[in-house]
Amino acid sequence: MRSKNPTYEYLKKSVFYQVYPTSFYDGNGDGVGDLSGVVSKLAYIKDLGADGIWLNPCFLSEFRDGGYDVVDYYKIDPRFGTDGDLGRLFEEADKLGLKILLDLVPGHTSEKCEWFLQSKKAGKNPYSDYYIWTDNVFNDGAGLRTVNGVCERDGNYAVNFFAMQPALNFGFAEVRRPWQKLWTDPSFEAIHSEIIRIMEHYLSRGAAGFRVDMASSLIKYDADGAKNAELWQMLIGRVKQKYPRAIFVSEWSQPEMSVGRAGFDIDFLIHVRGEAYNSLFRAEAEHGAWGAAGAPSYFRAGSPAGLGTFFDGFFHEAAGLNDNGFIGIPTGNHDIERLSAGRTADEMKTAFAFLLTLPSVPFIYYGDEIGMRHLPVPNKDGGYSRTGSRTPMQWTDGKRAGFSTAKPKEFYLPVENDPLVNVRAQENDGGSLLSCVKKLIQIRKGEPALWADAEIKILTKYMETPFLYERTDGKGKLVIALNAKGGKARRAFPCKGTVLAKNNCRVEAGELCFDGCGFLIFKAGEKQ
Ligand code: GLC
Repeated sequence: MRSKNPTYEYLKKSVFYQVYPTSFYDGNGDGVGDLSGVVSKLAYIKDLGADGIWLNPCFLSEFRDGGYDVVDYYKIDPRFGTDGDLGRLFEEADKLGLKILLDLVPGHTSEKCEWFLQSKKAGKNPYSDYYIWTDNVFNDGAGLRTVNGVCERDGNYAVNFFAMQPALNFGFAEVRRPWQKLWTDPSFEAIHSEIIRIMEHYLSRGAAGFRVDMASSLIKYDADGAKNAELWQMLIGRVKQKYPRAIFVSEWSQPEMSVGRAGFDIDFLIHVRGEAYNSLFRAEAEHGAWGAAGAPSYFRAGSPAGLGTFFDGFFHEAAGLNDNGFIGIPTGNHDIERLSAGRTADEMKTAFAFLLTLPSVPFIYYGDEIGMRHLPVPNKDGGYSRTGSRTPMQWTDGKRAGFSTAKPKEFYLPVENDPLVNVRAQENDGGSLLSCVKKLIQIRKGEPALWADAEIKILTKYMETPFLYERTDGKGKLVIALNAKGGKARRAFPCKGTVLAKNNCRVEAGELCFDGCGFLIFKAGEKQ
């Protein structure tokens, strides 16, 4: 069955790049990254092979949660520049064929947002019901986390994440208290329209779509997410009537629900509900931030883990996509420890080879393509342990790392000066991680059998090393072999064809021979 989704054909071949604007490039020399900085580095992102960018929040914010505490959805935060700079970003990206996904935070605002300033007033006004309030300050939150006794209004407000992020009110899947309303109540039309207005505003300006923050958090008491899915189906449906090619990417981590039922085009398989994802890279995360400490992850030399946990989760979700869209798997993001944690370049190359050959849409977190490290920096902007994954992009070596012309001590976040972990050093080195990532992206683009809609067949057991799988689109057939465990590994390999890429691996007299952590991407067919 062919998909009815008009963005399906585009997305199946796409690779996205995530930019945390505070730390990508400082265009005006004040020590903090900005939108004009992103504009001046678009050519780099294009050259890497990306098709689109997910930009973390750039709206007016108190920055007590990295911009996820929005004060005004229609204003650009002055640290990033102006509304004109955003317009220029859309224009310049468009010239290069890059799509921009903005970060939409629909579940909560900053406590300084004008809607909340109105809502917390004692007197009834149009914003009184925009947020979730109990009916007096002495009642409990009925299972919701609430902030008590700090407002003029006689009620406690529910929070969605941190205490200064009051939850917007989209209603409840079932009513347990008199102050709660069923999510289908017509009064919620006001907040629905508000969110749709924001989306349409930015789509009309040139955004290609949105990464939607905490997408399953809108309707409360919705344990399986089914009501949130119904709500999104309606919201996305309304926006797509006007903008049929708008792209919606959810932070939900349950693709069979979000893509298969809610109508998102992509959902991340990530650390949230994260067993499958964490089992790949982060089961032993050292720096907190949503890593399940303990068990070793698969992509680590010497690890006893297999790929069963990942593929069980992946195939379960993939079966429910309903041909509407795809699973997105990121190398990392601003909430978790970096991929490089405890990994050598060879281990990272093997992880990239895997991510870029799966039937999913890859997202590369800025800096992961050069192996940037999680730095031990103090909390900034409510990042806490996450701050270490949000440090400035390393463009060159030196004290400024090519990030800004400001004095290093004026840098908003400290930068690592590393002679090898920077773009300039790796661009000029054919054996670098960056060169490897670029090559893998190029291969993916040129081989329809590697796109997100093509088949995957696992050829070995999940515990076996080397681990082999086949990708095919009915015309081409590729075999991918991984030795994520390091050391020497051999296996009979009587295939005919062409080696497209390899690392620490050779094909010799009908045998695959690994010498350390590595991978092989092999195109089946007569040898050319
Ligand atoms: C998402 C964001 C995270 C933020 C949280 C609250 O998980 O990725 O950075 O803190 O939502 O908005």
